Amino acid sequence: MNITVIGTGLIGSQLATELTARGHEVTTASLSSGVDLLTGAGLDNALAGADTVVNVTNSPTFDDRSLDFFRTTVGNLLAAGERAGVSHQVVLSIVGADQVAELDYYRAKVLQEELLRGGPTPYSIVRATQFFEFMEPTMSWTSDETAVRLPATPLQPIASADVVDALADVAGAAPLGGILEVAGPDRFTLDEIGRLTLAARGDRRPVVVDDRAGLFAAVRGDVLTPGPDARVAPTHYRDWLAG
Ligand SMILES: NC(=O)c1ccc[n+]([C@@H]2O[C@H](COP(=O)([O-])OP(=O)(O)OC[C@H]3O[C@@H](n4cnc5c(N)ncnc54)[C@H](OP(=O)(O)O)[C@@H]3O)[C@@H](O)[C@H]2O)c1
Repeated sequence: MNITVIGTGLIGSQLATELTARGHEVTTASLSSGVDLLTGAGLDNALAGADTVVNVTNSPTFDDRSLDFFRTTVGNLLAAGERAGVSHQVVLSIVGADQVAELDYYRAKVLQEELLRGGPTPYSIVRATQFFEFMEPTMSWTSDETAVRLPATPLQPIASADVVDALADVAGAAPLGGILEVAGPDRFTLDEIGRLTLAARGDRRPVVVDDRAGLFAAVRGDVLTPGPDARVAPTHYRDWLAG
């Protein structure tokens, strides 16, 4: 199958390697290679001959400008996909994004999903939980030299490599016309994740539960954990940290 992967960051770079290993013809595209989803520049070339497009781009900011980013980029990608005869558009979103209206970025991801769903091309939405790789940056937002402050938000994080595996399965199959949730095998509270992460790094700072600290303070209850039909990935956070 001819598959174009748009975005070559954490997920896109691994996905291109995985899809190639599975025997697909893969084209990659991103801003730094001259393909700009905001303007449409380079898109027609990037999509020429593609059966499937996987959109794993990300907004440069998490604030309300991310709404404009996803509105414009989905519009341009769907239009270019129609011109190129693409028959499957895949996007990577976030488990529970529709449950946290207080966060601009999550509302932007929901907008991205809605525009895809309302568009002309058969689609699949893969919703992943928070990536293991995202845990340390999350902690750094609310850390100083003496302590790390984190809310006790329930999360079920996943290794990016496991997200890639699920995306590769979806990209190589018929459009779902719906959502597949993927999550890691273990559920933690964010402060527990903080303690595990610091211990693995030999960092002796305490983790203080602070339900007003950082991005996840806006999350109510366990809305970011997956539903019963989610695909549960194999990699455990403790093993990943140890590796
Ligand atoms: N972090 C999480 O825990 C989590 C959880 C669930 C879902 N997700 C979703 O996963 C997706 C991928 O995340 P990631 O961590 O792989 O992102 P990332 O590493 O930040 O990579 C983003 C990619 O988007 C490209 N890009 C940005 N603006 C562009 C534009 N105007 N035109 C073309 N390409 C553009 C960048 O291109 P350059 O490299 O060339 O600049 C980069 O390759 C995101 O949509 C995110 O919402 C994340």
